[in-house]
Amino acid sequence: MRLQGKVAVITGAGNGIGLETALTFAREGARVAVAEFDAEAGEAAALRIREEGGDAAFFPVDVSDWDSVQRMAAAIAERYGRIDVLVNNAGITQDAMLSKMSVEQWRKVIDVNLDGVFYCTKAIAPYMVQQGKGKIINTSSVVGVHGNIGQTNYAATKAGVIGMTKTWAKELGFKGVNVNAVAPGYIETGMVAKVPEKVLTAMIERVPLRRLGRPADVANAYLYLASDDADYVNGTVLEVNGGLVI
Ligand code: NAI
Repeated sequence: MRLQGKVAVITGAGNGIGLETALTFAREGARVAVAEFDAEAGEAAALRIREEGGDAAFFPVDVSDWDSVQRMAAAIAERYGRIDVLVNNAGITQDAMLSKMSVEQWRKVIDVNLDGVFYCTKAIAPYMVQQGKGKIINTSSVVGVHGNIGQTNYAATKAGVIGMTKTWAKELGFKGVNVNAVAPGYIETGMVAKVPEKVLTAMIERVPLRRLGRPADVANAYLYLASDDADYVNGTVLEVNGGLVI
């Protein structure tokens, strides 16, 4: 068990990659805080883990709301007395070409994907610093590294996440807290279900492994970075994209 006894907070753990990560972490012995906006999905994820024999509880949060994030962090710390791992996984898309992207679409994605990562880390990092050990994993994207048509807002946030990751790796490393990012390629989740079929087919052709990624592919990368195996890994961006961009 690679996370035995560790308390892991996973944002957006009700669906997709976050849900798979919650299940994986629980199977590896973690006590999982399912931090989720969608109450039904969050409750269901925690219940599924408990039914499998794991340890999980749902904590409602809107990561784009500082008060909500502070309440979530305090509730988790009160319940478990410590926080060992934070996976800043929650994220959204609202795609449009630059000429058609509304200010609201720009703002909403920034609020969740960029402010959300800042708020959750600001609220939770102090517990790790106090313990002298912790792991923070941020979710970037292939789009944050290389850009993508129709995703000005999303690309800005996912590039910003890399900047925050490297900054925090420098600020927190000597306090025992490792900060890394994972940059997934195209992964089969609800987010990618919105992409037109012909775009996906063309995308798969460009992946040397000739398939989309699965949530487990990303969950396993998160698991590595959350575990003691990655104690000397800090400030890196682990690309999990099947070689889509080399
Ligand atoms: P998803 O849409 O399946 O799940 C996202 C989860 O985040 C949902 O449960 C949703 O309720 C939750 N969420 C949304 N807004 C929230 C908020 N304000 N507060 C708390 N929770 C909130 O998405 P998916 O595909 O699992 O993506 C997870 C992460 O991976 C995201 O950060 C996404 O940008 C990133 N990613 C996904 C890729 C993909 O191809 N699916 C590729 C690269 C990165």
